[in-house]
Amino acid sequence: MSQVIIVTGGAGGIGSTICRGLARDGHRVVVADFDREGAARVAREIGEKAFAAAVDVGNKESVAKMIEQGLAHFGPIDVLLNGAGIMPRHPVKDISEEEWDRVIRINLKGVFLCSQAVASHMVARKRGRIISIASGRGVAGARGAAHYAASKAGVIAFTKSLADELAPDNVLVNAIAPGVTDTPMSRAGYSEEEQKKRRALSPLLGGFTPAEDIVGLIRYLISEATRYVTGQLFFLKTP
Ligand SMILES: NC(=O)c1ccc[n+]([C@@H]2O[C@H](COP(=O)([O-])OP(=O)(O)OC[C@H]3O[C@@H](n4cnc5c(N)ncnc54)[C@H](O)[C@@H]3O)[C@@H](O)[C@H]2O)c1
Repeated sequence: MSQVIIVTGGAGGIGSTICRGLARDGHRVVVADFDREGAARVAREIGEKAFAAAVDVGNKESVAKMIEQGLAHFGPIDVLLNGAGIMPRHPVKDISEEEWDRVIRINLKGVFLCSQAVASHMVARKRGRIISIASGRGVAGARGAAHYAASKAGVIAFTKSLADELAPDNVLVNAIAPGVTDTPMSRAGYSEEEQKKRRALSPLLGGFTPAEDIVGLIRYLISEATRYVTGQLFFLKTP
């Protein structure tokens, strides 16, 4: 069955792969991103099954507008995929208060605002799924990116809490932890040499997780096979 799916961070490495993969499956995707041009590019490439929406996930008005646009274009939202995120790298001693706030605003408050906004529509229909991209760093920690790790730990706790709240309304809420994936975000953290090394390794042995494999997990999480699965964190790889 064709579903309407909002993907925040839809212009990014993982988000755009998810948008393309789900559109190929016949779903309609709202490619939602702060990078307006990038979102438009991904939507253009996909064609009529995609709609680009500019959004700042950390801003309540912007999120409301993006969801209204999605509703107007495709109708009721079946799935929200929270994929927008940033990962600046600094040890705790060098993290400015502004950078701390920015990471928490985009990675954690963004998940809260987008989930809160779609949840009201989903609860009214007694149907819906919310999937957030957390990270193994939210469980294991991240040397050099403690704010990122803290934000993702928050996403995991938020997921479990919201899953419990929305279970009576048949809205499922889960999170995924993809493992290190070859995208602009992860490339920023590795030297050229380290990237080359990881590309040569199997994903099972420390290589990058192919973004396409994340699409496979999302497919499963929006399918009937998982209609009673909620409040879970799915790892593609142990952190
Ligand atoms: N790449 C990895 O190894 C990895 C591992 C674990 C988790 N993740 C998570 O997966 C998600 C996607 O990461 P990615 O690797 O594709 O990174 P990416 O940098 O390629 O994509 C992130 C996207 O988020 C968008 N974005 C940033 N701030 C935004 C805002 N305020 N509002 C809306 N959009 C905004 C960016 O424009 C970008 O398109 C992130 O949540 C990230 O934390 C990534």
